[in-house]
Amino acid sequence: MRYLVTSALPYANGPVHVGHLAGAYLPADIFTRFLKKKGIDAIHICGTDEHGVPITITAEKEKTTPEKIAEKYHRIIKEEFSAVYVEFENFSRTTIDIHTKLAQSFFLRLLEKGYIERRDTEQFYCPKCQRFLPDRYVEGTCPYCGYEQARGDQCERCGRWLEPVLLKNPRCKICGTPPVMKKTTHWYMKLNEMQPWIEEWVKTKDWKPNVSSAVYKWLNEGLKPRAITRDLSWGVPVPLDEAKGKVLYVWFDAPIGYISSTIEWAERIGEPEKWKDYWMDRETRLVHFIGKDNIVFHTIIWPAMLKGYGEFVLPHAIPANEFLNLEGDKISTSRNWAIWLDDFAGKFDPDFLRFYITMIMPETKDSNFSWDEFQERVTSELIDNFGNFVNRTLSFINKYMGGRIPHPGNLTADDNQILRRIEKDAEKMAEYLFEYRFRDGLKVFRELSREGNRYFDRNQPWRTRKEDPERAKTTLYISAVLADALADLGEIFIPGGTRRVKQMLGTEFRPWDEVLAPVLKGGEELKDVKPPYKKIDEEVIVLEKRRFQMEYVTIDDFKKLGLKVGKVEKVETVEGANKLYKLTVNLGDETRTLVAGLRPYYTEEELQDKLIVVITNLEPATIRGVKSEGMLLAADDGRVVSIVSPDKEVAPGSEVR
Ligand code: MF3
Ligand code: ZN
Repeated sequence: MRYLVTSALPYANGPVHVGHLAGAYLPADIFTRFLKKKGIDAIHICGTDEHGVPITITAEKEKTTPEKIAEKYHRIIKEEFSAVYVEFENFSRTTIDIHTKLAQSFFLRLLEKGYIERRDTEQFYCPKCQRFLPDRYVEGTCPYCGYEQARGDQCERCGRWLEPVLLKNPRCKICGTPPVMKKTTHWYMKLNEMQPWIEEWVKTKDWKPNVSSAVYKWLNEGLKPRAITRDLSWGVPVPLDEAKGKVLYVWFDAPIGYISSTIEWAERIGEPEKWKDYWMDRETRLVHFIGKDNIVFHTIIWPAMLKGYGEFVLPHAIPANEFLNLEGDKISTSRNWAIWLDDFAGKFDPDFLRFYITMIMPETKDSNFSWDEFQERVTSELIDNFGNFVNRTLSFINKYMGGRIPHPGNLTADDNQILRRIEKDAEKMAEYLFEYRFRDGLKVFRELSREGNRYFDRNQPWRTRKEDPERAKTTLYISAVLADALADLGEIFIPGGTRRVKQMLGTEFRPWDEVLAPVLKGGEELKDVKPPYKKIDEEVIVLEKRRFQMEYVTIDDFKKLGLKVGKVEKVETVEGANKLYKLTVNLGDETRTLVAGLRPYYTEEELQDKLIVVITNLEPATIRGVKSEGMLLAADDGRVVSIVSPDKEVAPGSEVR
């Protein structure tokens, strides 16, 4: 058995955030680390998705070229992943030569085999920008859910897969002009003809419920031919003379990046044929980690491409995650409602993020990142649990046992119970992890850490140290063995802190199935004992949270409004305006004129002599020829308009504060 693990190629048009991490990269990293620790041949392959409209739009926005954007974000994204210990065998790019050639060969072979056909068609065209508007170049209203900012390729709100022509009220993303239809030619993948095969294949799959329900929804609607070429200048050129100026649709070329990245890896390690073990040997399990917006492409189109091409293995599993929200709201890069990985890693231990994200991983439904919960969970479940157990064990040894792990005496039932439990828990975790149940896997680790603390409390080495030193030594020995085992079992989730624990113990990370092998015999010297994690800095959390809270105003901002009580002395109508009154208002030491749109709501009599609240330093404005020198306050619930009025008599000119 052999695994090829991939995670979705992120678009090289911006940095990656916690949502991406939770959706694909963290589970893929944990899974690959786990397989390797299990002694299974596994590689993790990824790279940046550098073609398509997401890149060209960003380039236009930043007034530069797609090449420069791709280059810039490829580098940034790669660094971000390493900052949170997400590792790859290879992190490639879809602009490398190997990729272009392979993508073109996919196109040609599918064409030759009759899976692709040419069609004359009409596409949106912007008369002002003088160009076709593929995919995200058009925005409009989603025909399914009514979302007004739906993109031409997919609705971000309901997740439906769209065609630009389906959008209601379409407009050019660049200039806002409504597009016109213009004739063009494109190549279509005949998914409708492939549907019977896809259905048969899907039936053999035991996918997570969130994945299979999405797949069956599409299959039940019936697959339609999909255009896989675009009128764009950025992308893999369509390898046909008759298709000058056209490129492959980004979703056609991107998944091929999984293969080209594997080829690049094999060449880099000097075994240029080795990629074939992963892509051509039926023993290989191809596992794609993706977020839910990528499901249709990986469960339907990509398998159809692979099947049509022949030669390569088909996906074994597609453990897609749902979405991670942030402080109760959908993550949005344009609104900067996101936590960026590089930013996080500069402020906190990356283990904290990996730990918390795994605890709330959106495996079956959307989940929510909250800073308060982050602080609470990381403190109670990581720092004060695993961290504390390790620290109390090792500091005790340091202080009372001369800094050497003691030799054990006779084992009690409790001691033996701990050893058996390590073994049982390692098996239980492995079962969960093979099923992509990362939350449950981490839970076993958390509970085993908790059991460590309880064991320590029960056995009270601080007492037995004097009363029964043999007992104390055995307790500390067993605790050290458990700390070492926890470091091994926890490594896949929290590689940083567990490595520090290993260093203090002077042991090495071991294969999963050897966590119980007796590496610690007693007598080993501890090195540099300190807590594996520092406490979370409250102030940093406060600062982070601030970004996601309502903006506050200061008392000085409020004072700027110059609110005062006024008394209406005279009410007049305004010539030619049936909504307006001209009010003469006494403000104590002065009298001012205000124009207010109150006629539909108040009679002249009702307003006469009324106390009102006025913003006195509003910039004057001339309305229907009358100069208005302030504004009165009124509440409006959409039906009733009601003037704000002091509820006791106060002198005109009184300050409102
Ligand atoms: N770039 C796409 C996204 O961010 C994912 C591409 S996955 C691949 O949504 F399969 F195409 F590589
Ligand atoms: Zn336009």
